[in-house]
Amino acid sequence: MDDRRRVRKGDSRRRQPDDDHPCEQEFPPKSSLDPSQYGDHTSTITEAQIGSSLEGLTVQQAVSSNRLYILDHHDHMMPYLVRLNNLDDTFLYATRTLLFLKGDGTLAPVAIELSTPLLQGGLTTAKSTVYTPASTGVEAWIWQLAKAYVCVNDYGYHQLVSHWLNTHAVMEPFIIATNRQLSVTHPVHKLLHPHYRDTMNINSRARELLVSAGGIIELTVFQRKYAMEMSSVTYKDWNFNEQALPDDLIKRGMAVRDPSSPHKVRLLLEDYPYAVDGLAIWTAIEQWVTEYLAIYYTSDSVLQSDVELQAWWKEVREVGHGDLKDAAWWPKMMTVAELVKACATIIWTGSALHAAVNFGQYPYAGYHPNKPSASRRPMPEPDTEEYALLARDPEKVFIHTITNQVQSIIGISLLEILSKHSSDEIYLGQRDTPEWTSDAKALEAFKRFGTRLEGIESQVVALNGNPQLKNRNGPAQFPYMLLYPNTSDHTGKAEGLTARGIPNSISI
Ligand SMILES: [Fe+2]
Repeated sequence: MDDRRRVRKGDSRRRQPDDDHPCEQEFPPKSSLDPSQYGDHTSTITEAQIGSSLEGLTVQQAVSSNRLYILDHHDHMMPYLVRLNNLDDTFLYATRTLLFLKGDGTLAPVAIELSTPLLQGGLTTAKSTVYTPASTGVEAWIWQLAKAYVCVNDYGYHQLVSHWLNTHAVMEPFIIATNRQLSVTHPVHKLLHPHYRDTMNINSRARELLVSAGGIIELTVFQRKYAMEMSSVTYKDWNFNEQALPDDLIKRGMAVRDPSSPHKVRLLLEDYPYAVDGLAIWTAIEQWVTEYLAIYYTSDSVLQSDVELQAWWKEVREVGHGDLKDAAWWPKMMTVAELVKACATIIWTGSALHAAVNFGQYPYAGYHPNKPSASRRPMPEPDTEEYALLARDPEKVFIHTITNQVQSIIGISLLEILSKHSSDEIYLGQRDTPEWTSDAKALEAFKRFGTRLEGIESQVVALNGNPQLKNRNGPAQFPYMLLYPNTSDHTGKAEGLTARGIPNSISI
């Protein structure tokens, strides 16, 4: 679940918060769907429904103290639900989940809103029901089902957007432009080339077997035949600058800028393993890129007169990411600082970001009752035969609601394949050819990068062993190792389902 956001004013995927000042907060969460087409999609969750779960705080106090978060799958689901719910064996909801940051540092879901489209007056409005936690009787199973519908939204969004779109697909333009515009002896080619290893190959195979029409992804995620359309629509809001981890955390309201903090941002959710380990990795990458590029670009004017570099960036923007070429946010590539940020972002995306979203898929989502990939029937309503059946035989209703048997076998098998490290993995801070450069300064800087990554390995292990941090192991006592770099391992023995290690590139 790497898409949580803090509840705040104008909470939406499209709007940008003021980076330097936490936004005024707003409850209930709003929608960014076009009112002329969709009417009012403001959340129907009320203070009365969640007030007893906030450890004595009012909703406004919880929001103001950064203790209320949202997993919001409403707006990107709603435009597709009429079509999706007309497919065989499919019944989905658009979901919003509010999570409260408890005093022990863990997040607990306090309300889930399930919405379906309601066509009235020429508008696609919403029919919504809010569910709250229950631990006994049939209500406990209703709550389990509500969480299952959320997990279905999250599963599909994760695979198509967090994984395929935001790592595999967006890297291709950089790879192609690097190979077409930068000579192999160019320092930026040498810097980035290891982070492209096998990516075009795996993407080509993915297009043949996985994301193709009728392919395995359409068989196993809820988006079915609309999978590619939905990821393409999401790409229209993709912003290269927001792929840098600090910017992503700020955009999602999980951090604020703080020049006095070690990583220049301060986390609002302090025990957030992906962000804590990720910021350490991000800073190490940024430092390495800064030191390396300073050897070759002694001033901005050197960069501005680098014909190959300017041609590379022009092709990235205007050809590779041509659909977004007119976006105002593209770096102009006039300063060394812009090149550092761009290269760090590309390296982060191909290495740590992909490792975080890919190699945990089987360990964290390989058991469908815990993380279903599809839902097939609506929530039982009180005073119906379905509700009575849920009371009599809840596990049967649950199993008949989530992913069917054939989908499960195919989907879990895919997750297992995707989550395996190969035996010839090259991890971050490693190179497969020691003679990749003859420049002593570059080699020294690269050695320092590796040493810093090995220091992060020790830090991750120490944090996982700290009993004060409740989110690093969870109830299952499964330590968070997805951003453990594994730089120190040169043996090649760390293959298979290790759930640890940051390869240089996207190769699976
Ligand atoms: Fe992948």
